[in-house]
Amino acid sequence: MTETLDIKITKTTHSRLQETDFNNLPFGKIFSDHMFVADYADGEWKNFQIVPYGDISLSPAISSLHYGQSFFEGIKAYKHDDGQVTVFRPEKNAARFNKSAERLCMPTLPEDIFLQSIAAVVDIDRDWVPAKANHALYIRPFMFATDPFLGVAPSGTYKFMVLLCPVGPYFSKTLRVKIETYYTRSAEGGMGFAKSSGNYGGSMLPAKKATEEGFDQLIWTDAKNHEYVEEMGAANVMFVLDGKLITPSTRDTILDGVTRDTVLTLAREWGMPVEERRVSVAEIIEGAKTGKLQDAFGAGTAATIAAVGSISHNGEEYFLADPKTREFSQKVLVELDNIKYGRVTDTHNWNYPV
Ligand code: COI
Repeated sequence: MTETLDIKITKTTHSRLQETDFNNLPFGKIFSDHMFVADYADGEWKNFQIVPYGDISLSPAISSLHYGQSFFEGIKAYKHDDGQVTVFRPEKNAARFNKSAERLCMPTLPEDIFLQSIAAVVDIDRDWVPAKANHALYIRPFMFATDPFLGVAPSGTYKFMVLLCPVGPYFSKTLRVKIETYYTRSAEGGMGFAKSSGNYGGSMLPAKKATEEGFDQLIWTDAKNHEYVEEMGAANVMFVLDGKLITPSTRDTILDGVTRDTVLTLAREWGMPVEERRVSVAEIIEGAKTGKLQDAFGAGTAATIAAVGSISHNGEEYFLADPKTREFSQKVLVELDNIKYGRVTDTHNWNYPV
């Protein structure tokens, strides 16, 4: 049996809850009252604490700042109509957290510590979970190296922390996306499958250039020839092509997304043909030209299901049907909400109660 984690709790003396405008929740800018912190040293995790959210003091020489031993997760907690709070599939994030840790030569974190830390801090800040459609408490667990050492070597000490942000929808509109044919997010043998901070840092220049050209997001393609679709922005990408749900299969360049897995599971249960395989740019463009591309969307924890309105490739823009008329993604959106907000029986045990 899992041992209960011994967490030292210091509560805030001034809650910011009442002064927070829950009708205006820009993603990732508003933090709840508390955060979770733990330290890794001498080969073990220790000093489990919940403290008021705030600044922390660190040496400017910590190796995560210099060499990028740093990664994170993204999870959401939802408030049901009856007030109950559940976290969506955190066990999947716990497993992926450790895949990221291994790839970055960092210590793993036992699943029960990961889950208990999240449950404990969400419990203390449960009033911060918005009770509103399309809103959630975004949970950001992360780990970073803390040795003050400029040699290029794995750190001996680390911090694991969990922050909480009440959030509304990440995207407020249908996306105009561009297929990227020069930059790459990840190459074979790289870190694409890990939620390594550097993956996101490296995506910012290409994303900024695309924004300057009037696009909202990029569709990343393979590093070798830019012939195959990989991901979209900071989310997985999915298509309905000729009645089949198609998405790039997971490999070392692609994140094994929780929303991705959830959508694939539901689609299979609904009897929809599903293909996880390499997806070529050519077939997506051909589908967009002929009308066989019936749906395209990003799938991610922050993004949820983000509808793609048009896809551009080599200067040509191809428009897709109005998202409201798209049978598959509309059905997924409704079912995901029904499950996450506890409106239907959770047959998959995806909701983790807090
Ligand atoms: C998430 O969906 O949690 C992500 O990782 C996206 C985030 C970088 C905004």
